[in-house]
Amino acid sequence: MPQRERYLFVCTNRRAPGHEKGCCMERGAEAVHLALKEQVKARGMAKVQARVCTVSCLDQCSAGVTILVEPDHFFYGRVSLADVPEVVESLASGSRVERLVLTPEDLAKS
Ligand code: FES
Repeated sequence: MPQRERYLFVCTNRRAPGHEKGCCMERGAEAVHLALKEQVKARGMAKVQARVCTVSCLDQCSAGVTILVEPDHFFYGRVSLADVPEVVESLASGSRVERLVLTPEDLAKS
């Protein structure tokens, strides 16, 4: 399979209920991952433009659900199922959803 233009790494880390850090899985990461995969595929982008993968903790737990976008090298944070169409649209247009991009202040918290 060809190397894709972009890779989206969706944190699907799960911690025990009540853990002080929480986790992306309890914030809906599984649904976000599946929706991203489905919508990227439905738009015919899966073979060339974007590959959606799961990963363990990206150490941005306070901003979960988090997604690392490479090779652009930025994080999306607080991603919900409702945000997925906009994220996919941004992939198609080569832009990013600025309101979801973690700021230096966000990164300092995690
Ligand atoms: S649990 Fe998702 S970033 Fe840590």
